[in-house]
Amino acid sequence: MQLCSILGAVTLLLPLWEVGCLQLSINSKPRAPKAPTGLGGALRRHKRSWVWNQFFVLEEYTGNDPLYVGKLHSDVDRGDGNVKYVLSGEGATSIFIIDENTGDIHATKRLDREEQAYYTLRAQAVDRETNRPVEPESEFIVKIQDINDNEPKFLDGPYTAAVPEMSPLGTSVVQVAATDADDPTYGNSARVVYSILHGQPYFSVEPKTGIIRTALPNMDRETRDQYVLVIQAKDMVGQMGGLSGTTSVTVTLTDVNDNPPRFSRKSYQYTVLESLPVASVVAKIEAIDADVGSNAEMDYRIIDGDGQGMFRISTDKDTQKGVLTLQKPVDFETRASYTLRIEATNRNIDPQFLSLGPFSDTATVQVTVEDVDEPPVFSTLVNKMVVSEAAKVGTIVGTVSAHDPDASNSTIRYSIDRNTDLERFFNIDATTGIISTAKSLDREVNAVHNITIFAMESQDPSQVGKGIAVITVIDINDNAPVFAIEYETFLCENAKPGQVIQTISAVDKDEPPSGHRFFFALTAEAAGNLNFTLRDNKDNTASILTKRGGFRRQDQFLYHLPILIVDSGSPSLSSTNTLSIRVCDCDPDGIAQSCSAEAYMLPAGLSTGALVAILACVLTLLGKGPSFWSCLS
Ligand SMILES: *[C@@H]1O[C@H](CO)[C@@H](O)[C@H](O)[C@H]1NC(C)=O
Ligand SMILES: *[C@@H]1O[C@H](CO)[C@@H](O)[C@H](O)[C@H]1NC(C)=O
Repeated sequence: MQLCSILGAVTLLLPLWEVGCLQLSINSKPRAPKAPTGLGGALRRHKRSWVWNQFFVLEEYTGNDPLYVGKLHSDVDRGDGNVKYVLSGEGATSIFIIDENTGDIHATKRLDREEQAYYTLRAQAVDRETNRPVEPESEFIVKIQDINDNEPKFLDGPYTAAVPEMSPLGTSVVQVAATDADDPTYGNSARVVYSILHGQPYFSVEPKTGIIRTALPNMDRETRDQYVLVIQAKDMVGQMGGLSGTTSVTVTLTDVNDNPPRFSRKSYQYTVLESLPVASVVAKIEAIDADVGSNAEMDYRIIDGDGQGMFRISTDKDTQKGVLTLQKPVDFETRASYTLRIEATNRNIDPQFLSLGPFSDTATVQVTVEDVDEPPVFSTLVNKMVVSEAAKVGTIVGTVSAHDPDASNSTIRYSIDRNTDLERFFNIDATTGIISTAKSLDREVNAVHNITIFAMESQDPSQVGKGIAVITVIDINDNAPVFAIEYETFLCENAKPGQVIQTISAVDKDEPPSGHRFFFALTAEAAGNLNFTLRDNKDNTASILTKRGGFRRQDQFLYHLPILIVDSGSPSLSSTNTLSIRVCDCDPDGIAQSCSAEAYMLPAGLSTGALVAILACVLTLLGKGPSFWSCLS
């Protein structure tokens, strides 16, 4: 079996189909009632791919009766009822029904092309008795024909778009697109045309492309920066009866630099106190710019005026104001007014808009310096002075000097900040600023005096300036050398004559510029000592040596050796220091084993109690050798 055309003419052209042909009768209603049945109308409607084995049925049929789709007929069918037509495939029982006797096919449901555009079915003619096919099964298609039942939709809407202000007429802003679910290959149901319902005369839309363009030249953001357009898409090429959909397009005008900065005034006046610290802000000057962002950024400059070098202007990043700061101290007495010419220039100038005028502006700024009653100022802030340690009370150390910088030039009264000279070593003459000693000085206690001097205006005691006098005390030789440490000297009972039992050195609180030189000797009364002797090593040390052997604790367990130490000052100073030497029992290595006197016979005339007292005294007076004898007495 073959599906074949219902038209004999075509059948004739295709002789193959002449024998055993299952014919399709195409229902051409109600779509084109006046067109010739079948092929003629179908050909016109489907130029691209005419397919013989297909039926057409209109979507969205709303009648009560099942919609006639077409008729199957087999050449084998002689009309005697022996042939039965059977339908299978997509929707064969649920949507399409076939009259098994006549081959008439009806659709039982409303069909929606947008849901399913065609159905593939299979037809068979079978012997009613045997159920055997009288012809091979054949496939055919039921195509659903479109009606305009879908309106265009802007799936991406609503839109937002931006276009620079001042754009030329016709500048493209954004393209909108509507989609229509209807069949784009058939009729005009899916052919949309765009129009603008809201947004004229500022914008237009191209009917075919949906491209939105500016419709006015030079739209100014500073006047109005946003427009909400309503765009319509209408199918049927926009004709009456077409379906339509709309979307909104919010168009924002973006800023361009079409406004120059302008000072609101031609001149500005500011006042500063002459006490204003350097780097302080003097003023903030604003040039107005109607643009925003980088188009309103500007640089300020001092282009002229007699205040150049005294002031500086920079841009406040956040406010775009010009911040005028002080670069050097101002002094009312020197100069009471400055004039500056300030220029503000846009940082990002668009050459396209240069014709709108210079993108800079100038203004005059006058800064007036106001007098401040200033405290006296010392001619030298830190006054270095020296004085001898030997200076008598009342010795002049030096002079400080301060003056009142104000025009009034008040007289000054000097005084010493007593917190910096608690012991009142110095005096200052209130009118002359002469500093003198008020006490004798001791370099070894205070080598440097750092005192603060007040200079006060005699008319206005609240105006006080401060200066410093650093007074260095010069050394004199007023200290004798003494033992460097408290020596704990001992001597072994087996010590040989001429053995060094101690090396001593000395210290002196004075600080001679060329360093210390000490001389050591036994005192005159010890010069003939038979037990010990002293050797000056001439390197500020001296060695103590035994002069004999055979020391025994039983005989004497403690010796006192008076030593004279002399410094090299002029005149020199000396002191007598007593070295205590104990006699100990030592091991062969010379390590003292026992220095105690207790185990042995006590020296005649000394009780145990007296000995304990002596030892206690030695311990107490550690470091004070010369006083040992007084302790004993
Ligand atoms: C003196 O004192 C002042 C303040 O008390 C201090 O700044 C300064 O460094 C001192 N100078 C000397 C030499 O000690
Ligand atoms: C020297 O040692 C002897 C024996 O201990 C003693 O009698 C004498 O007084 C000592 N001489 C001096 C000056 O200490």
